[in-house]
Amino acid sequence: MRTGLLVGVIVVVVVIAIVAAILATRPSAPPSPTTVTSVVTSVTTVSGTATTVVQTVTVTAPGTTTTTTGPPTITFYTWWAGLERFAIDAVIGNFTKLYGIRVEKTAVPGGAGVNAKIAILTLIQAGKPPAAFQVHCGPEMISYIYAAPNGVESFVNMTSAAQQIGLIQQAPGVAWACSLNGGMFSLPVDVHRANLIMYNKHLLDKIGASVPTTVQDLLAVCQKAAAAGIPCLVLGGADQFTLLQTWENLFLAVGGPYKFMQFLYGTLPPNDPSIVEATQLYLNLTKYLSPDWSSVDWTGAVADVVQGKALAHVDGDWAVGLIHNVYPNVTMCTVDNITPNCDIIFAPFPGTQGIYSLVIDSVAVPVGPEESYGVLFAKFFAGPQGQTIFNPIKGSIATYKNISTSIYPTAVQQWEAQQYRDARFYVYSLTHGGLFSDVWQNLLQQVVVLTQTGNTNLWYSTVAKALATERQEWNGWYMGFPNNKFWGNATATS
Ligand code: GAL
Repeated sequence: MRTGLLVGVIVVVVVIAIVAAILATRPSAPPSPTTVTSVVTSVTTVSGTATTVVQTVTVTAPGTTTTTTGPPTITFYTWWAGLERFAIDAVIGNFTKLYGIRVEKTAVPGGAGVNAKIAILTLIQAGKPPAAFQVHCGPEMISYIYAAPNGVESFVNMTSAAQQIGLIQQAPGVAWACSLNGGMFSLPVDVHRANLIMYNKHLLDKIGASVPTTVQDLLAVCQKAAAAGIPCLVLGGADQFTLLQTWENLFLAVGGPYKFMQFLYGTLPPNDPSIVEATQLYLNLTKYLSPDWSSVDWTGAVADVVQGKALAHVDGDWAVGLIHNVYPNVTMCTVDNITPNCDIIFAPFPGTQGIYSLVIDSVAVPVGPEESYGVLFAKFFAGPQGQTIFNPIKGSIATYKNISTSIYPTAVQQWEAQQYRDARFYVYSLTHGGLFSDVWQNLLQQVVVLTQTGNTNLWYSTVAKALATERQEWNGWYMGFPNNKFWGNATATS
């Protein structure tokens, strides 16, 4: 099974690389006809007044071409496909309506960019990048800089664009996390959180358990669930990333924010006891995985919890967006306000309360002939208007302090906005942008092997290699501002 999975991953990677290479050499296609659907919704503007926004979703008609010259068209690469397409489609529709520029979304499926990142890297390496692409803030962007023919000169420095749209002034914490050596090479569009866990409340009630606050509590709840014949935990083996995210959350719980950031910078000693402790807890916890874990992706894992096939799932708050958009009859609540009608409870991952593990999606624009359109799109998307359209649907929160929290349709997002403001520490999620892409891919593959085989020696040597490679690849780069490297408030003694 292990070999099958690895072979599967390799095949997918190769196919995507080939498709990407073909796309890279293809002459730019004429614009194709679209179906435009207008959705009228009420949102609150930055000033706090309610207004009506027409969200125009543009759908490219498949298999049709046209020879007439139409409005300018640019390509945007992303992994927001399938069940998580709604927020990006609303942004694109509105952008096109406002500027008359069409955005052809090339969505390479696979949560957390497990496939898209390889496709984007291939295009960049070939010197044929898309006009704009999705990237996490953090060293993931440096991996693209390393791959590009002209290095850092291959990408538009977005610092002044960020200033123009008020991002640096209104989102100083996000600007801190999203800057590399003091400059911004992509514009942030949201704040997601990686250290979350969701529970099916009916199953918790059934076994007479409450929401765990420590990792030991979580293990005890899982034991109880197992005794009642209920699979405790479901993770998405098919797109792997929630496995690594679970490991990193355990590591955050036992190691704390400073060691977590040391992992990101590769300065954590490889024999640090928290690596072993987190790994042992990971193996204890994954004993309780549901039988279908290796065949479901994150959306399937969320569905399992929603449908009562498993008790819990570790994921980011994009799961909130998914439930809101796809399961409108499901009521979500937070651990701080468990309402009687609640179906799904969201809580900080046990042992990481008070810490916000940041995941920041952003848009980067390569230097080239379409650069001005790309920058226009990125500024619209990351600006107050784009973020007001995007975040309510996405499950995330907006980066702007002055965007009213009343735009969020779910109680979880309202709570997250408060949790973000009140957090004692911020760290940057390793699974979602906090690692260089080669290190990330290695850890993703190996965490699947760890889960299947329990082979800790292989895992520890992979982690040691990951730390050494991280340290080496930072090579003069850092997150944050000069004299204020991003450590998310953590110090060696905190
Ligand atoms: C994350 C990304 C989120 C969401 C998630 C699942 O990496 O930051 O916006 O897309 O993956 O695909």
